[in-house]
Amino acid sequence: MFDEIEFNKIKRLPKYVFASINEIKLQMRRNGEDVIDFSMGNPDGPTPEHIINKLCEAAKKPKNHGYSVSKGIYKLRLAVSNWYKRKYNVSLNPDTEVCATMGSKEGYVHLIQAITNPGDNAIVCSPAYPIHYYAFILNGANVINLPIKWDNEMYLDIESYFNDLQKSIKSAFPKPKFVVVNFPHNPTTTIVKKEFYERLVSIAKQERFYIISDIAYAELCFGDFKTPSIFEVDGAKDVAVETYTLSKTYNMAGWRVGFVVGNKKMIEALQKIKSWIDYGMHNPTQIAATIALDGEQDCVEEIKSKYEHRMEVLIKSFNSIGWEVNKPKASMFVWAKIPNDYLHLGSLEFCKRILQEAKVAFSPGVGFGENGEGYVRIALIENDKRIRQASKNLKNFFQKFKK
Ligand SMILES: Cc1ncc(COP(=O)(O)O)c(C=O)c1O
Repeated sequence: MFDEIEFNKIKRLPKYVFASINEIKLQMRRNGEDVIDFSMGNPDGPTPEHIINKLCEAAKKPKNHGYSVSKGIYKLRLAVSNWYKRKYNVSLNPDTEVCATMGSKEGYVHLIQAITNPGDNAIVCSPAYPIHYYAFILNGANVINLPIKWDNEMYLDIESYFNDLQKSIKSAFPKPKFVVVNFPHNPTTTIVKKEFYERLVSIAKQERFYIISDIAYAELCFGDFKTPSIFEVDGAKDVAVETYTLSKTYNMAGWRVGFVVGNKKMIEALQKIKSWIDYGMHNPTQIAATIALDGEQDCVEEIKSKYEHRMEVLIKSFNSIGWEVNKPKASMFVWAKIPNDYLHLGSLEFCKRILQEAKVAFSPGVGFGENGEGYVRIALIENDKRIRQASKNLKNFFQKFKK
């Protein structure tokens, strides 16, 4: 019906690459099969008890049942500002430099909606967390892919990054207005040092573009590595915002709490668009999120250690079956190159076969953009026992389907 009425905006979104894996997974589960599922970055642990207790306490108070404030209650924005002071020694004004969001994905999409004009150009790392790319596409803008490279220790090859960035800026028309970065990077786990942000901020000021930096995995760092914030660089607030989420750090993915901080002009635009679109998160959730950020942080250490331990178990057991993968220094993922004998299949077909034959689900690298081809992303959301079982299943798969 009404064939002449086209929904053109939606047509710019491709079919979700992960959908075909999800369909097979669903079918297998309906048939009673047990799938060892490493495909989604959805934390498997519970939210720490003190946060749940605060939610329950706040939910019992009728004054918390009405509409909230779309940019987040003051106490939550203050807790965000305190978190930055404690963690990075960065000062943020809770009124003008902080906006609470319903998860960082919502914050990111609405920010892009607020600041992008049709036809704008944005530069995004490739591969990428898909919405980093498609938020621009949805708003009629265009994206220039910047392929990233990393070394054996998973540090970004910054010379190659800045070379390609300068080339893209020089050759693009119109001149790119936005650069999106995300370190620790999803999906590749690539990390950067403060020096990277120093150079990026300086180029942004010279070339006149805004930076959006997503540090969703900032707290999930292993060994001595610590994720820097762009705001540790003097003057970064002139050109940048940073997005963050409570989803991973506090096992609060379903609660939908995140925030965007930094540049006043961008924060004002986000607060304004949100004031038209929503009435803010459920008050008890915001009150509990305040406790998450301001309360005891032992739970963060526990959550981080669990991922680090699983990562060690996975690397060791995969190595023992001959699948060598680089050790990540941060995030909740392992980014694994597909073994040479199976590279010709492509990552989607490789994942389908592994799923059907070994009952193990990974995310195909191509789902994160064409530069993700040849890899799979493994989310560390299964326990040790199931990681070892997955490795046994994979060993059998590799033996059965030897080239
Ligand atoms: C890099 C990155 N940014 C943002 C998000 C979204 O987090 P949230 O749950 O806060 O929307 C994710 C989720 O996987 C992510 O990987």
